[in-house]
Amino acid sequence: AERKRTMEWKQIFADAIFAAMKKTALEKKVMYSLIEHPKHEQHGDLAFPCFQLAKHLRKAPNKIAEELAANLSNSYIEKAEAVGPYVNVFFHKATAGRDILTEILSEQGEYGSSKQRGKGKVVIDFSSPNIAKPFSMGHLRSTVIGQALANLAEKNGYQAVKINHLGDWGTQFGKLMAAYKKWGDERELKAQPISTLLKLYVRFHEEAENNPKLLAEGRQWFQRLETKDREAEALWRWFRDESIKAFEKVYQLLGITFDAVQGESFYNDRMSAVVKELEDKHLLEESDGAKVVQAGDDMPPCLIQKTDGTTLYATRDLAAALYRKQEYDFASCMYVVGGEQQLHFQQLFAVLEKMGYSWAGDLVHVPFGLILKDGKKMSTRKGKIIFLERVIQEAIDKAKKNILEKNPQLPDIGEVAEQVGVGAVIFHDLKNERMGNVEFNVNHMLTFEGETGPYVQYTAARAQTLLEKARLKEGGSAAEMETVTMVDEEAWEVIKLLEQFPSEVVRAYESLEPSVIAKYLVRLSQAFNSYYGKVKILSGDAMERSRLAVAGSVIIVLKEGLRLLNIQSPQKM
Ligand code: ARG
Repeated sequence: AERKRTMEWKQIFADAIFAAMKKTALEKKVMYSLIEHPKHEQHGDLAFPCFQLAKHLRKAPNKIAEELAANLSNSYIEKAEAVGPYVNVFFHKATAGRDILTEILSEQGEYGSSKQRGKGKVVIDFSSPNIAKPFSMGHLRSTVIGQALANLAEKNGYQAVKINHLGDWGTQFGKLMAAYKKWGDERELKAQPISTLLKLYVRFHEEAENNPKLLAEGRQWFQRLETKDREAEALWRWFRDESIKAFEKVYQLLGITFDAVQGESFYNDRMSAVVKELEDKHLLEESDGAKVVQAGDDMPPCLIQKTDGTTLYATRDLAAALYRKQEYDFASCMYVVGGEQQLHFQQLFAVLEKMGYSWAGDLVHVPFGLILKDGKKMSTRKGKIIFLERVIQEAIDKAKKNILEKNPQLPDIGEVAEQVGVGAVIFHDLKNERMGNVEFNVNHMLTFEGETGPYVQYTAARAQTLLEKARLKEGGSAAEMETVTMVDEEAWEVIKLLEQFPSEVVRAYESLEPSVIAKYLVRLSQAFNSYYGKVKILSGDAMERSRLAVAGSVIIVLKEGLRLLNIQSPQKM
């Protein structure tokens, strides 16, 4: 049976204000949204500004605040004070604190999960690297953001369907085949698939500048591929398999799995149906021999079919959207793809709408900013690339060096180094707002101080050690802690943050911002570390249990928050 959860404090406060009003002036929802977290402790735990009410009631905000404060009553609220135009409330530390800790300790990792809110499937199209090319920094961002959004969707009650829309079709593979037939070496390709394919691709473009005949050869090879020529297909499959093997290594390091790998080629036999449907719906137009659909007044037309009959990226995305709706009947479908493809998705959604699909409104492009190195975009052009696998490996090696210096007796150093190194890379990306650019710096990622993954992991591990000293198991259960009888007032800042976790989970998902969780975890870690510095947790007196309940709750929430970001928590570090 679903345990009854304590109500969110903001909600309790909104209800109490609503009840204290003589007549309805604002909706409860609006009141809820106006509530603030005061910056200074003396201003209470939550504050309600009365300006909006003042407008509606035509009364001075200070006066309204006074009246509300005088009439406010709820068993959770100890004190309400009017300060100027604000109503500040103080919660009963003992009651409210005990209820939160008990809830976390009994729910464990389920704390903050919503079973009722979300309904149905959410398709998340993410990662989607291009075969025969290295996994780029942009694809890394898509991968970590997409996986975090999938975890957040599930936490909010939806069923996530994770799809890798591999870039495995297109004219570039014709070029690659032409290049391989001319200059390729089987042994080299087997040993170093991605860099060899990349070299061939770069050489093809260099030589094509002086030799345009090459371009025609590339086109011919692609034509052969599209018409299912045996040799062309075999080459393509080989390039694809080798690429997937290389990507797999990255996914394994990052702990990423997919529900389906449905790349562009997956839609090959659905292309003609899409083109026909567009034709039947009188949307297809001729333009210089090519076929296009007008996407809207404010957009260039969407290219559907080239003069030579080959289809394009957009055509495949149309087929993919139709297929996904049919196969998964999604509540929404997200595309986690860099901001530079904004126009593509606008066109795609507009064309689907023109085709008469009302669910086009459930498609969302989730864009993100760039990863910069020394302020410049990292690019794969001209073979000047950084191999992601190497970057992650470097982070793991550095983490290992750190551990060997600080804690050489630690068991399983290799495993912990992997969790810390990978966690550092992921956290570094996710702590930034999605649209911001990220400066790539392995040293910054790995410091144990500041806003980093290792800092959060370390805070959880440190709390874990405390619990072990008290011989309680991980994230001590409610039973082990016995019902929390007292609440340490010193822990109030920590408890307030613990209370906010469920609403942060909602906020992160609604804004499609994993950074909300990352920032929250840093705040919680800081609050706990400062609490830890102030009080002796293993005090040996009546307060010890209650302090351990705080530590146990912090472990649960930090671990669960890290899990949402797809980061592991070492037991010790
Ligand atoms: N392979 C594409 C790229 O690297 C990204 C694909 C994104 N997903 C999609 N359905 N278009 O640019």
